[in-house]
Amino acid sequence: MSKINCIYPSILSIDFSCLGDNIRKIESSGLEALHVDVMDGHFVPNLTIGPSIVKTLRSVTPAFLDIHLMLQYPQKYIKAFAEAGADSLTVHVESDHDLQETIALIREHGKKVGIALNPETSPEILRPHLKDIDMVLVMSVHPGFGGQAFIKNSLKKIEMVCTWLSEDGLQDSVNVQVDGGVDMKTLLLTKDAGANLFVVGNAIFGKENPVKAFEELKNIL
Ligand code: DX5
Ligand code: ZN
Repeated sequence: MSKINCIYPSILSIDFSCLGDNIRKIESSGLEALHVDVMDGHFVPNLTIGPSIVKTLRSVTPAFLDIHLMLQYPQKYIKAFAEAGADSLTVHVESDHDLQETIALIREHGKKVGIALNPETSPEILRPHLKDIDMVLVMSVHPGFGGQAFIKNSLKKIEMVCTWLSEDGLQDSVNVQVDGGVDMKTLLLTKDAGANLFVVGNAIFGKENPVKAFEELKNIL
């Protein structure tokens, strides 16, 4: 299996007043996946959406639903998001949980597993878990809000993770996702560093014409 490069639009910056219509518009340009940011007001200083919106998303699109859980206690909510229609659940190493237990729980629900790292977290903690997961998410902003500036140091982290994946023979099976401040300027930097899944919020849904912005980013890839 070899990995694909793919833009994952993040709905954090979408116009929620016509959520379904806005997703259908972008689907016409070949949407494969949507990134959904779940925030609890504790792990990050912001509150966003819960399983009911994921259920709504599931009913309006066949796109792969990539759920990014920015939660203090992610284990409590795995079942609810899995049953709501998530395809992939990403948890943070910095949350309050036993990472190996959470990975097993996500697997029990038959979902893909992602592990996320905040900008200040050193990636070494990940290495023993790489063989058990489907994706590493390298945060390139401090999680909580869309529209922040890309943190350049995250490129080194992406490179480090990719080196380990190669050394462990996992380079074709574990995806490397980057999230935060990805736009027309930073996209190729992250791709050159080794990322293959690119979360983009503001640089798509913050634009006057999100469909055009999505197409332009896809063309750059
Ligand atoms: C931030 C979220 C991101 C956010 C990215 O905490 O995890 O997914 O939507 O937004 P942009 O692309 O605007 O930085
Ligand atoms: Zn995210």
